[in-house]
Amino acid sequence: MTRSLKGEIFRNMARCFWIITFISLICTKGSEGQASGLQRFPDGFLLGAASASYQVEGAWNVSGKGVSTWDHFAHTMPERIADGSNGDIACDSYNKYKEDVQWIKSIGLDHYRFSLSWTRILPNGFNTPVNQDGIRYYKSLLEELKAANITTVVSLYHWDHPQILEEMGGWTNELMVRWFVDYAKVVFDNIGHLIDIVITINEPKLLCQQAYNSTWKAPGKVFNDMGHFFCVHNILKAHAKTWHMYDQEYRATQNGMIGFTTPVRGWVQGEGVTEETIERAFQFDCGWIMSPIYTGDYPEVMKTRIAERSALQNYPFSRLPEFTDEWKKIIKGATDFFGLNHYTSSMPTFDPAEALGTFASDTNIIGIADPSWPSGASGWLHIVPEGIGNVLRKIKDTYGNPPVYMFENGVSDKGEIEDYVRINYYHDYISEILTAIVRDGCDVKAYTAWTLLDNYEWEAGYTERFGILKVDFDSPNRTRSEKLSTHWWREVLRTRTLIDAREFTSHLRQRRREGSTFEN
Ligand SMILES: *[C@@H]1O[C@H](CO)[C@@H](O)[C@H](O)[C@H]1NC(C)=O
Ligand SMILES: *[C@@H]1O[C@H](CO)[C@@H](O)[C@H](O)[C@H]1NC(C)=O
Ligand SMILES: *[C@@H]1O[C@H](CO)[C@@H](O)[C@H](O)[C@H]1NC(C)=O
Ligand SMILES: *[C@@H]1O[C@H](CO)[C@@H](O)[C@H](O)[C@H]1NC(C)=O
Repeated sequence: MTRSLKGEIFRNMARCFWIITFISLICTKGSEGQASGLQRFPDGFLLGAASASYQVEGAWNVSGKGVSTWDHFAHTMPERIADGSNGDIACDSYNKYKEDVQWIKSIGLDHYRFSLSWTRILPNGFNTPVNQDGIRYYKSLLEELKAANITTVVSLYHWDHPQILEEMGGWTNELMVRWFVDYAKVVFDNIGHLIDIVITINEPKLLCQQAYNSTWKAPGKVFNDMGHFFCVHNILKAHAKTWHMYDQEYRATQNGMIGFTTPVRGWVQGEGVTEETIERAFQFDCGWIMSPIYTGDYPEVMKTRIAERSALQNYPFSRLPEFTDEWKKIIKGATDFFGLNHYTSSMPTFDPAEALGTFASDTNIIGIADPSWPSGASGWLHIVPEGIGNVLRKIKDTYGNPPVYMFENGVSDKGEIEDYVRINYYHDYISEILTAIVRDGCDVKAYTAWTLLDNYEWEAGYTERFGILKVDFDSPNRTRSEKLSTHWWREVLRTRTLIDAREFTSHLRQRRREGSTFEN
């Protein structure tokens, strides 16, 4: 058989594949969207991708930008980064933003979530002077997205705050609340009219644990098992003040939505997992951040446990700070949506060490991973799709079915172009999400893939890749190119249907065996 004849048969097979796909799509419509691996997204559901300034922008020292905690951390303590690298250039998105937007458009994404670098806008941290180049850059990026009809989702802050403010205590200093609100005001005044959804602060919980109770993330300070509590306390205040400012002064003219986003770990059943361990793990994880927003205070179980343990440790106060009644009122209700990031799950069980009296954490919970679970390239990222459904149902039951915007979900590998693991991960997780929506009535409005480009993965440097586009970090050009998952997403967005990953990949594998690449 000649090669061109093979090609012809192949193109016909490909056509057949899509025709069958569409027929099954039409046949399954109305049967709760679940049959033969095909599920349709609800009307108006947003599908997008996300990034963060330090992970993609580069241009760390151009046009008046000030030094951020991550510039400082990666430059002065490279030994804390897996490959000793930094984000000085990263994906060079500061220079290549127009190309990035073209990619977003070519894939067909509804929204793009990115973050602003505080020191690109305010080099000294404080609201004077305002760096006009920083404003120009973000304005151009937002206008480029708007011109392409892409919904703009902007995180004001994704972990790279001004180093100068860090020298003054950073998020452990309550003055940071004022400094953050001043910064947010500059953003709203200058580019707020171009932002559809504002995320004030990304993942307060993870930031506070890893930046002020561990050496993993900038600034990497450890404060006797309490820095993370002060940090979250101040971040919740800064968020709430910013929400009220937007609500009172900008909402009427800028018509956006504003909230923040928190990572919630999932759980599945297993030995030692009980209602109580699930509840306790959830409250110390999600409840720590979201309970103040939905109920006005930290969860009871946190207040009780941490007070008891602080007393045992001879502290004169609980390591968990208290909100005054005035602050409770300000924080309660200060969000337009529940922003959710999610990656992985475990089996929460009581820590047997506490019973022995040898060691006990504030939670007394340990999360066990089943060794049979597959993992991404990141050791912590076990692939457990079932967990996200449990998280969504629990959010619905605990907080009165709020609108949930998923702002991150994804998996890492070592940079494979044929990223079957990634396609299967997206498919299996999104399938659980659609089931939670269609079958269980969870009010999920958006899904955001982490992340658009392979990028600087914090303390993992460039050793773990989460992108749906490949970036060549060996080229000064930082050339972007497609992966298998780029194609899968393009097809999902074109059909607004969750395409079965195994069918899609076996179809492509078959084509490749016949001498074709997945490029067309
Ligand atoms: C900016 O940083 C780069 C290293 O990433 C360095 O080569 C360059 O000289 C710096 N430029 C200025 C103006 O300091
Ligand atoms: C813009 O995107 C929205 C969905 O996000 C869509 O409904 C609308 O048709 C698009 N408009 C254009 C001009 O493409
Ligand atoms: C804070 O750090 C201590 C010591 O490493 C650890 O035992 C504890 O679990 C950490 N707490 C949180 C909430 O991360
Ligand atoms: C640089 O990147 C652009 C866009 O990704 C690409 O078209 C071009 O071929 C690249 N140049 C080199 C030298 O790699």
